[in-house]
Amino acid sequence: MEVRGVGVRCGLVGGSMRSDQARALAGTPESRHARTAARVGVPRTAARVGVPWAAVRGGTNAMVDLPAGGARQGRADDRDGVAGRLRAAGCVFAEEEARLLRDAARTPAELEEMISRRSSGMPIEHVVGWAEFCGLRVSVGPGVFVPRRRTEFLVRQAVAFAQASALAKGRPDGRITVLDMCCGSGAIGLALAAMLGPIALHATDIDPAAAACARRNLAAIAGHVFQGDLYVPLPAHLRGRVQILIANVPYVPSGDIAMLPSEARNYERRAALDGGTDGLDVLRRVCAGASRWLAPGGALLTETSERQLQPAGELLAAGGLAVRAMTSSEGEASVLVATKPPPAGAQ
Ligand SMILES: C[S@@+](CC[C@H](N)C(=O)[O-])C[C@H]1O[C@@H](n2cnc3c(N)ncnc32)[C@H](O)[C@@H]1O
Repeated sequence: MEVRGVGVRCGLVGGSMRSDQARALAGTPESRHARTAARVGVPRTAARVGVPWAAVRGGTNAMVDLPAGGARQGRADDRDGVAGRLRAAGCVFAEEEARLLRDAARTPAELEEMISRRSSGMPIEHVVGWAEFCGLRVSVGPGVFVPRRRTEFLVRQAVAFAQASALAKGRPDGRITVLDMCCGSGAIGLALAAMLGPIALHATDIDPAAAACARRNLAAIAGHVFQGDLYVPLPAHLRGRVQILIANVPYVPSGDIAMLPSEARNYERRAALDGGTDGLDVLRRVCAGASRWLAPGGALLTETSERQLQPAGELLAAGGLAVRAMTSSEGEASVLVATKPPPAGAQ
């Protein structure tokens, strides 16, 4: 098997510098903030006591356990005390979140309700009902997987692939056919449409709440959302016609679920996180059908952990696809791009 590496840091990774726990947490809001803090040189302890560095943050969602009396109340920019209450509950980005809650609440009673939900640990995205992804505001319903910033790397690889392969050329309507498998809120398809222009978008998710949420998000771009198990609900006419099959499937090994932050464990469905014993169960099934649904020259793009790059790459290669592995420069995201070769004799 050959897995080629492209990108800022690339290739098959033999060993990882990250701990098992950090890998299990990869992509969670907490780890996202920890990495951002490290990147911009803000000590974790500074973030814990509310030093304002939200302007450089990658998201809004992080809670820590504060020692008694650790919260600083009554700051000048917190006349209504919302930020102080959030900080006391352990929110790292209390001022920023206070602003989000004030903007989202239509009445004082609603604001109270939101503060209480957030203070009890609900992700800020679920409290306000949306997440930022690729610069877009994506609606995220209760229990639906919150799109992670690290997944923007997957989107960028799909855009690069579409542009390098000139996929739209020769299409009667100029639209690339995209299948977003395990779509969750539909954030990936929405971002692809924003970056590539009009696409023929199909999306599937097994969770009725996720499928309903994706339908709402994708209505404006006429995306087709199907609820069901992987390829099962798809219309037969898509077979052999999908040019980009993008799949951010659950890939946390079952044994690592307990190490995930409570925001993921308690507010996202287990089926959105758990990838089975080695984390590759869902990807294995996606791989098994990929060649049948991909158009010649089309590609399956999937996010994975750095630790899973090698075995996941082998899975894809065993399915007859030509595989490239990429890891983002900061190492927080890894992606496999697996292309279905064009028929012999074709360019
Ligand atoms: C890690 S989340 C990713 C969601 C979305 N792609 C994103 O990046 O925000 C995985 C999603 O896969 C869905 N899922 C899990 N097993 C599935 C299956 N067998 N068929 C379809 N969807 C599935 C879950 O409901 C969840 O929404």
